[in-house]
Amino acid sequence: MVAGVWSVAREDWRSRNDQRRAMLIDPSPPPSRPGATGSLYRRFVEPLLRSDDGADAEQLSQASLALLAEIALRRDWPLVRDTLGGLASELQRRDPRLQQTLFGCRFANPVGLAAGFDKNGVAAALWDCFGFGFAELGTVTWEAQPGNPKPRLFRLAAERAALNRMGFNNRGAKAVRRILERQKLPPPGRRPAVLGINLGKSRLTSLELAPDDYAASLELLAPLADYAVVNVSSPNTPGLRELQQENQLRRLVERLRRLPACPPLLVKIAPDLEDDAIDAIARLAYEEGLAGVIAVNTSQDRLGLGQRRLAATGRCLAEEAGGLSGCPLRPRALEVLRRLRATAGPALPLIGVGGIDGPEAAWERITAGASLVQVYTGWIYAGPDLVPQILEGLLLQLERHGLSCLSEAVGSSLAWR
Ligand SMILES: Cc1cc2nc3c(=O)[nH]c(=O)nc-3n(C[C@H](O)[C@H](O)[C@H](O)COP(=O)(O)O)c2cc1C
Repeated sequence: MVAGVWSVAREDWRSRNDQRRAMLIDPSPPPSRPGATGSLYRRFVEPLLRSDDGADAEQLSQASLALLAEIALRRDWPLVRDTLGGLASELQRRDPRLQQTLFGCRFANPVGLAAGFDKNGVAAALWDCFGFGFAELGTVTWEAQPGNPKPRLFRLAAERAALNRMGFNNRGAKAVRRILERQKLPPPGRRPAVLGINLGKSRLTSLELAPDDYAASLELLAPLADYAVVNVSSPNTPGLRELQQENQLRRLVERLRRLPACPPLLVKIAPDLEDDAIDAIARLAYEEGLAGVIAVNTSQDRLGLGQRRLAATGRCLAEEAGGLSGCPLRPRALEVLRRLRATAGPALPLIGVGGIDGPEAAWERITAGASLVQVYTGWIYAGPDLVPQILEGLLLQLERHGLSCLSEAVGSSLAWR
């Protein structure tokens, strides 16, 4: 059965390759239709995501990552190479209008995989084949940690949302370095997709010692990172969000910037901050020469879903710990991004994340001031086709607005047409 599915998939990829070759002669874009991967996803995975119960959300992610980890290590095997080539030709949209260079990194397109899916970087070598212009690995902590007790990831299918309280489960900075080295990635700056590494505080480390804890991870992982992210916004590590306070964040950032080889450094913030706190972070980013700000992480606010019951526990969201992601987060994520842009001005690169589930949401975030966007929950629900759909949608908007490249759209407030 599996062999059958793959041979159907390979045939479809072959025909898409032929289509693309034909495009070199006739540059009018072919009608966008779901490719083999999208069809397989819709047939076998999407039905599992239509209700809250059924297949366990974390097990599904773990199973796919385990498969991708094996593929990443065997990507020079001819069959694997062919299959990945097919995947890439189905999902990538290479267009010079989508390219940008930000904080010294060249992004082939503005859509990235958000932190938290590939926490240990096991599929780092593969994310460009899924069409992403960049992927953020992690969150990685200095100590290996198991995270919170299961179940800790819950689908809210009707709302196309999720609640998670994973708690920075990861194999620790030393193991992640080994995992990345085994994949023999091209060095930073020469990768088809930019790779960021998102860092967090080990649960057992006090807030006082947090800067040293982050610094130890960054020192070890810096040679493998195109950029690094200081995650001070996860709701699932007690006390972590206090590091968003101006004095604490400044101490942390200054400690990291003293490292001999500090890559471009970004900060990822929560959606639950007051306006004053957002403004303070925007100013700090400017004063400390940060490469950018990522807005936002999951929300501790229940975003109008407080009385919604979780099938797995029978309790309502107001009584459950964890952070909300997906569609309900979209309006607040947009607000935070707008506030950052208004305070920081156009010079500070912003990465917009939270509830992006299609081209219109991506365009909205970009025209509000995000140079790049990231997807997580929306990508799980929509499947791998989401990336090319967003990229094609963005290109169409550029054409309709008469813009010559994406960077002209950033912060332009141009409406979706
Ligand atoms: C299961 C899960 C795990 C996550 N883990 C992390 C993490 O380790 N580090 C982090 O910075 N963000 C993490 N996030 C937050 C996402 O990167 C993203 O900021 C958030 O989910 C909003 O985007 P979305 O609505 O597209 O999911 C996680 C999100 C989910 C759903």
